[in-house]
Amino acid sequence: MRPRVPTTIAAMAATAALLAPTAATAATTGSGAAFAPGSSGLGDPYFPLAGNGGYDAVHYDLDLDYTPSSRKVVATSTMRATATRGLSRFNLDFQGPKVTKVLVDGRKAKFRRDGQELVITPARPIPDGQDFRVAVSYAGPLAPIKDAALGVYGWVPTADGAVVLSQPDGARSFFPVNDHPSDKASYRVRLTVPAGLTGLASGEPVGEVSTAKGRSTSVWESREPMASYLLTVAIGKFRVKSGYNTGVLNITAVDPKLSRSEGLLYDTTEKVTNWASDKFGTYPFSSTGGILDDAKVEYALETQTRPVYDSKYPEDGLVVHELAHQWFGNSVSPASWKEIWLNEGFATYAEWMWAEEHGGDTAQQAFDRYYARPAGHAMWKKPLPGDPGRAGMFAGSVYTRGAMTLHALRLTIGDEAFSELLAAWATKYRHRDATTADLVALAEEISGRQLDDLFTAWLYTAGKPDRP
Ligand code: TRP
Ligand code: ZN
Repeated sequence: MRPRVPTTIAAMAATAALLAPTAATAATTGSGAAFAPGSSGLGDPYFPLAGNGGYDAVHYDLDLDYTPSSRKVVATSTMRATATRGLSRFNLDFQGPKVTKVLVDGRKAKFRRDGQELVITPARPIPDGQDFRVAVSYAGPLAPIKDAALGVYGWVPTADGAVVLSQPDGARSFFPVNDHPSDKASYRVRLTVPAGLTGLASGEPVGEVSTAKGRSTSVWESREPMASYLLTVAIGKFRVKSGYNTGVLNITAVDPKLSRSEGLLYDTTEKVTNWASDKFGTYPFSSTGGILDDAKVEYALETQTRPVYDSKYPEDGLVVHELAHQWFGNSVSPASWKEIWLNEGFATYAEWMWAEEHGGDTAQQAFDRYYARPAGHAMWKKPLPGDPGRAGMFAGSVYTRGAMTLHALRLTIGDEAFSELLAAWATKYRHRDATTADLVALAEEISGRQLDDLFTAWLYTAGKPDRP
């Protein structure tokens, strides 16, 4: 789904297509319509191979049958997409087990693996603008991605099952995907696990859990657009509480090894979802919740509708952070990974806002505490929040200096314009993706002020900015 291709990414994708050596081999048909291979990436500056050119994914239908003891999956993943150029072949991102079959519109297609790329040559080229369907069957063990800077992510086996946290490009560890936040899609996940275990995913359950031959199957649907890194799946022993207390369905699950009180996390989730809806506008999805599991990855993730909390019962501030991401990051997504501060700065600022209203420090006190850090502190050097680099994506400055940027903005434009901006940002870019330039433009429009200098100093310039 690509309601709007940001100029930067569109330009980069075009460049990537030109640079792709295979573009020179473009074939043409008798009618003169050109078919060429889709590019292997979307031009993301940090993840050049994330996503693929030439099509727009619209919907994924995942059918996963998983056995925790062997870590083996038997799966078919079907992507519905629209060609954005004539395609002689195209790629998906995939680093899972052996592919046994690929069908494009029901016809057998040729395929090969090349690192994280699954390269598919359909029996017939796909004309520009045409909808098509790719079904990939695969079987074998699943494993997470391990990266020196980004940690463990993707499909993460646990003691009693598995849990998925795919930021930034880990969805490819368990299904073939156009793995970039600029191409959101709807999802349906059919999950089959050994009876006695619980399967959960992002979105809402469809029908009842069915059990046959010692295995139980559940179906989960995410109707609102979702970036691939935000799809979670959780398998294991869980205590689950679900209900409709304040309108939006809340499904909260906890690993009984970690906590006996699913009701507590359910209640906090409820309270925070409502608080954030007051601040940022209507909740963007059809359900909320949380999953507390023993993933041992040492971070939580804002997986869509149901954040994953790792290994210990989360503090309220962490719940606020992950649920704030439902607006900032999940509904309004970064157009490229360089824009990660749009996720983390906003989610951190939400924590400051929550603390201010719940007996903690005011946002001003939080800002002052960090501003007091001496000029020699790492936070004033690199990585810079506006372009932290691949290895610096989750550096403290992206979170803290990102939140300070928003506070500096608030001090400059005033409380009223600032709260209007938070809601307007969530509304204008709801279910889309956006850039820092989009935020600056909206802030300038709402405040009637010129704000380039402020954002340049706080996001892109080494050194301690002047106190606003
Ligand atoms: N985006 C997550 C959050 O802020 C954190 C996160 C994801 C992370 N992957 C990471 C932190 C890797 C450190 C390393 O909620
Ligand atoms: Zn975050």
